[in-house]
Amino acid sequence: MTSPLAYIKSPIEQELKVFEDRFKQSVKSKVPLLDTIMGYIVKRKGKQMRPLLVLHCAKLFGEINEATYRGAALVELLHTATLVHDDVVDEANMRRGFFSINALWKNKVAVLVGDYLLSKGLLLSLRNKDFKALEILSSAVEQMSEGELLQMEKARKLDITEQVYFDIITKKTASLLASCCGIGANSTNQDEDTLNDIIAMGNAVGIAFQIKDDLFDYGDNKVGKPTGIDIIEKKMTLPLIYALNTAAKEKRRAVIRIIKKDKKTKKQVNEVIAFVKEMGGLEYAQKRMLEYKADAEKLLSGIPGDGDTSYIAALIDYVIERKK
Ligand code: IPE
Ligand code: IPE
Ligand code: MG
Ligand code: MG
Repeated sequence: MTSPLAYIKSPIEQELKVFEDRFKQSVKSKVPLLDTIMGYIVKRKGKQMRPLLVLHCAKLFGEINEATYRGAALVELLHTATLVHDDVVDEANMRRGFFSINALWKNKVAVLVGDYLLSKGLLLSLRNKDFKALEILSSAVEQMSEGELLQMEKARKLDITEQVYFDIITKKTASLLASCCGIGANSTNQDEDTLNDIIAMGNAVGIAFQIKDDLFDYGDNKVGKPTGIDIIEKKMTLPLIYALNTAAKEKRRAVIRIIKKDKKTKKQVNEVIAFVKEMGGLEYAQKRMLEYKADAEKLLSGIPGDGDTSYIAALIDYVIERKK
């Protein structure tokens, strides 16, 4: 049986290779330290969800072309930059099953490496006058920074509501997945209405994607990055928000008191995890995730044209079924 990801990649294997080559070429540097780190990054590729979205959304309306490849490289460069920075912010020492950049080369280097990756993406598009792609992406970058900072503010105050959680994940994660759809589609079809439709679809996919990611943090499965760190980092995600909102006042206060601590014992973290599970926080998040999945599917079915949408449908499925 082929894996879902293999199925999704099957009609665009050649194109993915071209993308990978463009990505690799675009991060080349004559500075030895940068070159070493870029080699490390290129070797440890992720799921490539974003380039897959770019390529498949382009394919819906026409033939994948040079602008599509540059768009795919652009979003993956930006994505990689944000992961390198995110691991500094979250003090995470693992990424994609290996040590994170900050773990191996320290924070100072990781900050500069992230900036380098971002600049490489911007230059690639700018030098080819891909202004529309740049516009779509830059607004995502703006939102991602806002989302991460909003999340930090809430980690300080711990007064997050569900509505603010959705605002945060829409900004920090869904904005980029939405951009992938927009940038891909724009490389083969410049109709504004169609672009807006496909961006809306990507947004729903992105929200489901981040809920899934937040669920991973509660699991014991090996997902290639640390789990159980959201609570340690005071990151309030949907399962926890729901559990707190459902709990009796005293219990709620007691749990918040633990989350507030800068240094938590393993026992305390486990206590919060058990509380979230007891209150049905995981089931609730799962349910909300499925709602966004259904939204995405509905939006996909409304996309005009006679392109084959089955691979994007498979991608939407993969977002919620994936094991890492
Ligand atoms: C991780 O994204 C960052 C989030 C938005 C949760 P991915 O899970 O797509 O990371 P890679 O690229 O596959 O490693
Ligand atoms: C998503 O949030 C990070 C970005 C949007 C860069 P997380 O902090 O949950 O992502 P992971 O879990 O570290 O991949
Ligand atoms: Mg993180
Ligand atoms: Mg996470």
